Amino acid sequence: MRDPYRELAPLYDVMAADPGIQAFYAEFQASLRVAMKAHHVRPRVVVDLACGTGNTTVPWVAGSRRTVVGVDRSEAMLRVARRKSARVRWLRQDLERLRLDVRADVVTCHFDALNHVLETGGLQRVFANVARVLRPGGLFQFDLNTRFMLQWLSTSEKLFRAGPHAFTAYNEFDAATGIATFHQLWFVKQGRLFRKVEVSVRERAFAEAEIRGLLRSAGLRLERVSVQRRLKGRPIRRVYLAVKPAP
Ligand SMILES: C[S@@+](CC[C@H](N)C(=O)[O-])C[C@H]1O[C@@H](n2cnc3c(N)ncnc32)[C@H](O)[C@@H]1O
Repeated sequence: MRDPYRELAPLYDVMAADPGIQAFYAEFQASLRVAMKAHHVRPRVVVDLACGTGNTTVPWVAGSRRTVVGVDRSEAMLRVARRKSARVRWLRQDLERLRLDVRADVVTCHFDALNHVLETGGLQRVFANVARVLRPGGLFQFDLNTRFMLQWLSTSEKLFRAGPHAFTAYNEFDAATGIATFHQLWFVKQGRLFRKVEVSVRERAFAEAEIRGLLRSAGLRLERVSVQRRLKGRPIRRVYLAVKPAP
């Protein structure tokens, strides 16, 4: 399969430097810290799934001797991540076929990475893999764009600045499948000229009841769902916290 992040990888962190995206990252961390305290989890092993360029992976190694594993299927994204830390074990794997030799206290999967799984069966496999990797009592935090968000993004074409570059975003949403296709056309500044780069990424919306059912059948207990942002009063992103119950 062609890697949809191949062209985006060198630009991803310019985009992620946006204060709005940094606020998402900070909120994931803050709510996880609260959950770890409440559940008496002291993370010695952390696995960050779909870690991308490692923005939510690398902070785990600071000032600690814990084992930190970052997993992604995109070699281009991992190439950027590897430059940030030699302390993290970076692994190229697909979440649906995850094979790890660690038992984790905390598993994370951030920034709508699970919307990239386009079939219910695929998400079921991912949750089952997470349940296998977590030790009993371990925590799983992930977030998802809502269907409303994917639909809303397809209502207009937008122009963004990202550092010295700019990109237009035009999205399509298929109401029957719940799948959105994000088309980005980047104008990457090179000297006095701009290079054109086309990116296309697909995301699927999952119904709330579906997520709950899939977590339950993977043996994970949903502890908390919080709305991270609203638009016109409607949730656009939710953050989930699940626990692997002790036997
Ligand atoms: C929006 S980026 C999020 C990256 C990172 N978690 C962050 O917060 O910046 C989505 C990432 O998910 C990865 N991804 C999507 N589907 C995947 C799968 N089935 N297995 C592994 N990685 C996957 C992509 O390669 C990409 O790096």
